[in-house]
Amino acid sequence: MKFLKTMTLVVITAFSCISCNRQQQGEAGNPTLETILNRKSVRDYSAKEISDEAISNLLKAAMAAPSSRDRRPWELLVVSDKSLLQELGGKLRSASMLQKANKAIIVCGDTTLSDNCWFLDCSAVTQNILLAAESMGIGAVWTAVYPYDDRAAIVSEQFQLPGNIKVLAVIPLGYPVEKNTPKDKFDAARIHNNKW
Ligand SMILES: Cc1cc2nc3c(=O)[nH]c(=O)nc-3n(C[C@H](O)[C@H](O)[C@H](O)COP(=O)(O)O)c2cc1C
Repeated sequence: MKFLKTMTLVVITAFSCISCNRQQQGEAGNPTLETILNRKSVRDYSAKEISDEAISNLLKAAMAAPSSRDRRPWELLVVSDKSLLQELGGKLRSASMLQKANKAIIVCGDTTLSDNCWFLDCSAVTQNILLAAESMGIGAVWTAVYPYDDRAAIVSEQFQLPGNIKVLAVIPLGYPVEKNTPKDKFDAARIHNNKW
């Protein structure tokens, strides 16, 4: 009986090591890689409610982003008020899908914390939110505000943002109406090994 227990332990340990090694190598079965490869822009949403817990997880993922000199210049504005989503979606043509969204996260940067890298840091935040949303079955899309002055003026005016707060992106969120397929963008011709 003791021999059987020991052997079971050996087999489980060996299996865990193999599976862990596979994950490190980024092969199939790596959930992080699968999420990255499955991410896609989703622009049509059902009426299903996104829970506060789900939003909280998206915000945690957002703030886990890297930032230049670790300045963390991000500010995140969560919009759940349906009339606000309607209004903003009506004004921002590039984000008209806000009118169907259940919620949205507006990714902003504080230029007093980082005047030259805020938009790079906030791009990392935005991608983290998109990936976290994908992993949770929530549809999302990056709609650009920066670097368009007209879009920035609309969002700043809507929320009366202070002058030092710049908007990078508006991310409409909602459970997808249909199954969306990710594009396969891998292109070996874009890879250069050791020389151009
Ligand atoms: C910087 C940036 C700005 C974007 N702006 C918009 C936008 O204003 N409206 C929109 O519908 N999609 C926008 N997108 C989403 C792109 O259209 C989308 O990522 C692209 O078509 C590739 O499709 P995929 O995200 O499904 O892979 C933007 C994406 C990025 C990275």
